[in-house]
Amino acid sequence: MTLGWPNLSNPADAVFFFIVGVSVAFLFANTAVMIYFVVRYSRKRNPNPEDVKDNVALEVLWTVIPTILVLIIFFVGWKGFQYMRTVPPDAMPVKVLAQEWSWTFTYENGKQDSVLRVPVRKPIKLLITSADVLHSLFIPAYRIKEDCVPGMETHLWFLPDQLGSYDLFCTEYCGVGHSAMITKVEVMPEKDFEAWYKGGDAEMAKPGTKTTKKKAADPDGASLVQVKGCLACHSLDGSSKIGPSFKGIFGKKETVIRDGKERELVVDEAFIKQTLLHPELDRVKGFPPIMPSQQGQLTDPELDAIIHYLKSLK
Ligand code: CUA
Repeated sequence: MTLGWPNLSNPADAVFFFIVGVSVAFLFANTAVMIYFVVRYSRKRNPNPEDVKDNVALEVLWTVIPTILVLIIFFVGWKGFQYMRTVPPDAMPVKVLAQEWSWTFTYENGKQDSVLRVPVRKPIKLLITSADVLHSLFIPAYRIKEDCVPGMETHLWFLPDQLGSYDLFCTEYCGVGHSAMITKVEVMPEKDFEAWYKGGDAEMAKPGTKTTKKKAADPDGASLVQVKGCLACHSLDGSSKIGPSFKGIFGKKETVIRDGKERELVVDEAFIKQTLLHPELDRVKGFPPIMPSQQGQLTDPELDAIIHYLKSLK
């Protein structure tokens, strides 16, 4: 995991080290005083206990010092919070859709990807929401974390100051595929990013929009299963993940369960389409019943492209 550790220019790190520093100083100071008292006031040296009356000076000291300390901690914390919530006006907006169990990033020109690609040294503003349950977006390298809430848009920003590949994952338990809800932030040289951003290969219609652009009319199934997060649960190489592998799925015999009754069927176009739109009808035996419905998430041409692609996976 790339943490970029320690990163003292980051306000979160400065606050963290300040609090750890204060805690360590008090740990040593308290321990030293405790040891001194144990020795100095042991029964051997001090057989007759003394009744200690108030000590105003001491009481003032142990009230004032902690008060000042917590105020300083509040102040540095507040500064860090302000920094986190103040998005630079020139930040590049990227929409983030969290869903069980994948991430979809949508750029201003409609381009989508399952990896967050950003140009180096350009502030990025993430506009975050969820398609189903609560998730939480966490990029440890940039010390940022924000809840993904269905029906609500939250935001975050960060400055990718160094090239590299950084982890991005869900940090709120969201069901059986939670641990698979992991992707990368790819910080690219500006030129490479521009080339990717303007390149047409992976361009697709935005989900939910009825307007069909020229390029959107012919979506590519291979990139769809990646962008739409199918690969978080379904492998392409035959290995078992949370759901059945896509390899050789077309024409395969599967046992499905409907209303508690088992029956065998052959996977065909109709079954794939039904599973994409109404996965709750027939569940494939041996896998948890967790496939989310893609109703409203995929356009008809996208559905066809995915079915066509799955047919090609021998
Ligand atoms: Cu999404 Cu955990």
